[in-house]
Amino acid sequence: VPNGLAQTPPMGWNSWNKFACNVNEKVIRATADAIASNGMREAGYEYVVIDDCWHGTRDANGFITEDRERFPSGLKALGDYIHGKGLKFGIYSDAGTKTCGGRPGSQGHEYQDAIQYARWGVDYLKYDWCSTGVRNAEEAYATMADALKASGRPILFSMCEWGNNRPWLWGQKMGNMWRTTGDITDKWTGKHNYSWGVASIVDMNEPLWPYAGPGHWNDPDMLEVGNGGLTDTEYRAHFSLWAMMAAPLIAGNDVATMNQATRDILLNREVIAVDQDRLGQQGRRVARDGTSEVWVKQMADGGRTLLLWNRGETLARITAEWTTLGLPADVRLKARDLWAHKDLGRMSRRYSAEVAPHGVAMVRLNP
Ligand code: DGJ
Repeated sequence: VPNGLAQTPPMGWNSWNKFACNVNEKVIRATADAIASNGMREAGYEYVVIDDCWHGTRDANGFITEDRERFPSGLKALGDYIHGKGLKFGIYSDAGTKTCGGRPGSQGHEYQDAIQYARWGVDYLKYDWCSTGVRNAEEAYATMADALKASGRPILFSMCEWGNNRPWLWGQKMGNMWRTTGDITDKWTGKHNYSWGVASIVDMNEPLWPYAGPGHWNDPDMLEVGNGGLTDTEYRAHFSLWAMMAAPLIAGNDVATMNQATRDILLNREVIAVDQDRLGQQGRRVARDGTSEVWVKQMADGGRTLLLWNRGETLARITAEWTTLGLPADVRLKARDLWAHKDLGRMSRRYSAEVAPHGVAMVRLNP
């Protein structure tokens, strides 16, 4: 992508999964305060993104304005506030005539919207796909990407087209990340109306591993960690799988009030480092036996990150053979458990562990 941004998967927070259309400047400021003071900023969470429903109407010249009831100080002031906390500012629009929440979309106003975002100090745009009619997706996203470029401000471009037009085949020319699926929901698996549980999202995103790399990432949607629908074991699996898939890590919970268990997941620096590895290779499933899976991610330092995932309902012993990971069987590797934060010593041939139902074991292997 010509803008040079997102050399590692973007990290931040987005309002949608927790607050949906109930956004206002109080919530956004409280979130920025929390990220700047609870360790998230230092761990890499950077973008504070307002999703749908910040919009007011267009002014007499067609420029978009903010909803002044929800954002009485205005978006310029809010962007300044976020920047003042050492963070970056993101917003949301839509390639059609209306956003999914019924606010004005950008169709036919792309260049003046990009100018307005640049005036507000926007650093990140998520661009949705509601009310697009017969519009061609590649054209629509290319037009906004060109408009962002013409604004003169570097703006990370997050393409939210849900995977229908296979954006992994053309998105890298214009965007920094593209959604590969419909919406995530705070459930373990399955399809629920128009959204999917975590495990189902993983199955849709995993095969797309060849298309991800520095500057352009598959986006399996934002995190549900801390939203209350899953157990902490399941949230650890969710977070680990996103890191293995080099997915954008966009928290979607109320970070101002989260509990310690949620914080420990979102702030696990060893897992974040797997996601943020500069090689930018999306990890993938290399073996499956019933509900037991083995995943591997190649790391820039020559090592591998190994994930054992138990999708089943009972405790399972899962074994990863070095040969399955593409390594000689007799090589002795240093292993470190990224959730226990413990060195496990050197081992050859295989790594094997008992994994809780819906849980993972995540281990870094190095020569
Ligand atoms: C659909 C997107 O996929 C969601 O992430 C969210 O942005 C909503 N639209 C907002 O209306």
